[in-house]
Amino acid sequence: MEASEKVAPGAFRLPQVPRWRSLLRSFALAKDPLPVLDATLAHFGDTVELYIGGVEKSILTREPGLIQHILQKNHRNYAKSKFTRGFSRYIGHGLLTNDGPDWLRQRRLIQPGFHRQRVAGLTGLMQEIAAETLAPLVARARQQGGATAVEVHELMTRLTFRIIARSVFSTNFPEAELDRLARLITEIQAFFVRSIRQPYLKPWFRLKGQFTYHDALAAEMRALLSRLIAQRQHDNARPQAPPPDDLLQMLLDVRYEETGEPMSPERVLDEALILLVAGHETSANALTWLTYLLAHHPDEAAAIRTEAEAVLAGRPPAFEDLPRLGRALWAVQETMRSYPPAWMVDRVALADDEYQGLRIPKGTLFSLYFHGLHHDAKYWDAPEAFRPGRFAPGQARPVQPNAYVPFGGGPRLCIGMQFALTEMQLVTLELLRRFELEWVAGQAPVTMQPLITLRPKHDFRVRLRLR
Ligand code: HEM
Repeated sequence: MEASEKVAPGAFRLPQVPRWRSLLRSFALAKDPLPVLDATLAHFGDTVELYIGGVEKSILTREPGLIQHILQKNHRNYAKSKFTRGFSRYIGHGLLTNDGPDWLRQRRLIQPGFHRQRVAGLTGLMQEIAAETLAPLVARARQQGGATAVEVHELMTRLTFRIIARSVFSTNFPEAELDRLARLITEIQAFFVRSIRQPYLKPWFRLKGQFTYHDALAAEMRALLSRLIAQRQHDNARPQAPPPDDLLQMLLDVRYEETGEPMSPERVLDEALILLVAGHETSANALTWLTYLLAHHPDEAAAIRTEAEAVLAGRPPAFEDLPRLGRALWAVQETMRSYPPAWMVDRVALADDEYQGLRIPKGTLFSLYFHGLHHDAKYWDAPEAFRPGRFAPGQARPVQPNAYVPFGGGPRLCIGMQFALTEMQLVTLELLRRFELEWVAGQAPVTMQPLITLRPKHDFRVRLRLR
């Protein structure tokens, strides 16, 4: 809302996208949402009322003040919507899908497991997995005369899944089970998104046994994790060696303050599963877009490399080096501005509320449109340009924290933020230490596919040339 529009409480009315227009656009919205949403906001203003799919009334906003109000200032009045909660049918009630006092209790318990020092302890593992994953590509490039092309999204998904799986479960995760689990998560997620985007297909899904089938996949996923957790508990009961310092052990070791009790096995499973689900696709997408951007901006890749060579002189980076390797981090941050993996977040009002004259009745559904905010020219110079330097200290127009929310905000800020930033900075440095990135000519234009996270619609190839 513009300042001139601030009026007495209850008096302000939002621009409304007529229902017929929402309906007309619902097909285009399902097919390619971002241009439709951007055009709607450009036409009506930063906050509008519309009907999702022509059916569900919702407020779409890219206004930083309103986003802050919902995520931070009055966060107690806003819960995750039924869409997010519906996901818990398949992935359980971990931090991401939980709400209210139970969520707060779990968050307090798990938060220390993600402190800086804890993440620092995982840096070696992240690096080891990055090296392991890139080594076959180095060998392949040698065989192919110095360069090899890779499917980038596939590579980054494999890499980040291995990083999070081994950060949670250390080494007792057999390779075949790791692959199976990754496939189960992907398949379940794809089905869940379809059932939300195309609710009218539900009777058809039911008829074809799709719900039963995906429930069975979810059960298989839980059984697989349950076996790994039981194995760890068994090992812990008869220790041959100190337990691994991983996130599973953290979940098993923490105790509720009030009771001194550990989490129930079911809870441990829910939280471990949430970390696997929330902790890989987002980072995979960010790294995929980063590779895409760096392949198109060799000058930026060269600047990162020059800084890394000056700081590290050829050795691999350690956690303590990262603050002196800012250029890789700025590129990561700028990528998440352009392509925020969590492109939209939803909330529902639990009771009547009011924001700068806007009456918000109980039950109002909000779509917080981070992608729109990250491209709003009111807060960003040349928002469509890739300029990592805007995140460098001492800029004439520094980044406004309220206008940059890739990890959300308020008490539900991403718990894995430090983990993800460290992981992405390290992977970028490891990739550029070994390879020049070249765009493979003749590919179809790369377009975005906003599902739960923002991924490329089709995978694309980048040529890795040995340095
Ligand atoms: C580029 C990487 C990542 C991005 C952009 C990202 C983004 C986000 C965002 C926006 C939220 C808040 C959602 C909301 O308010 O509705 C969130 C929550 C969450 N993220 Fe991340 N995330 C990333 C990586 C990770 C990683 C690596 C982990 C785990 C190690 C993780 C675990 C979680 C969990 C458990 C929550 C729920 C927190 C809560 O509600 O208490 N994320 N993430």
